[in-house]
Amino acid sequence: NWNLGRFVEEKIEEIRKQIGENRVLLAVSGGVDSTTLAVLLQRAVGDKLTAIFVDHGLLRMGEKEEVTEVLKRLGVNLVVVDAEERFLEKLKGVVDPEEKRKIIGHEFVEVFKEEAKKRGPFKFLAQGTLYPDVIESAASHTGMAAKIKTHHNVGGLPEELGFELIEPFRYLFKDEVRRIAEILGLPENIIKRQPFPGPGLAVRILGEVTRDKLELLRKADCILMEEIKKWEKYDEIWQSFAVLLPIKTVGVKGDFRSYEYVIALRVVKSEDGMTANFVEVPYEILGRIARRITNEVSGINRVVYDLTDKPPATIEWE
Ligand code: XMP
Repeated sequence: NWNLGRFVEEKIEEIRKQIGENRVLLAVSGGVDSTTLAVLLQRAVGDKLTAIFVDHGLLRMGEKEEVTEVLKRLGVNLVVVDAEERFLEKLKGVVDPEEKRKIIGHEFVEVFKEEAKKRGPFKFLAQGTLYPDVIESAASHTGMAAKIKTHHNVGGLPEELGFELIEPFRYLFKDEVRRIAEILGLPENIIKRQPFPGPGLAVRILGEVTRDKLELLRKADCILMEEIKKWEKYDEIWQSFAVLLPIKTVGVKGDFRSYEYVIALRVVKSEDGMTANFVEVPYEILGRIARRITNEVSGINRVVYDLTDKPPATIEWE
């Protein structure tokens, strides 16, 4: 029960002193943590911060625009790297989930390094590491946590580059970061953002990722979000998203037989992502989502709802 307003002011002062006349680099993903950190650093050192947003082409509809608009409006010195082509090229023909993660994580570090070189020199690298991340990685170093999925966020970001790390949120939990975001004047759409995996839609397109499939999934996912946000219990949801399955099923559209893809809807409650329960979304809402997706997204003729908890399933399908 301590004063976060004071914490923010003290951190700003501390970071300002630490950075001095040097420059600091930050990767922003659009999530609460990195976005809040970007704004905190901006308040502390202004344009001595360079924030890099890598668009890997695996983001949701409108996500890049939403995030970059906010950061620019709040005065963050932002570089947007359009790297879709590179990532999709590297992902061609890849179907294994862990392989996708590895490729995306690796490519991300490459892009980031190139930008750092081009725009440097930077003495510091800032990261939005939270306390649970610190504990989790300590646990995995001692072999306590069984590794289910490799989480390449910016975790792979190289200490080898010789940066000094700045991690102002190291002792904080997510709800505290959300409150700091509020104090710093970030808008609700950022503060309330659901967690989104680093590899993005690549792990929500089962099997090979293609441009066409990304487009289908983006449209379906956008419809799901539009409809579910209207639900009075939306705030209780941990994550809600669409998954594109790699199978086609037979259907009928108009007078014709169709043979098209299936979308699975996933809506879960969770405290920390480690365990989760599927949410009993009213049929009325699910039905509306299914009808809209099959009407509005050509290439989809069937929608199913995922009724599994974690465990035994995971939240993501890959
Ligand atoms: P799972 O699917 O393992 O997900 O039950 C637990 C939480 O982690 C997110 N997730 C990821 N986040 N990189 C990330 O940064 C990843 O590769 C990744 N895989 C899953 C997932 O969205 C959920 O919040």
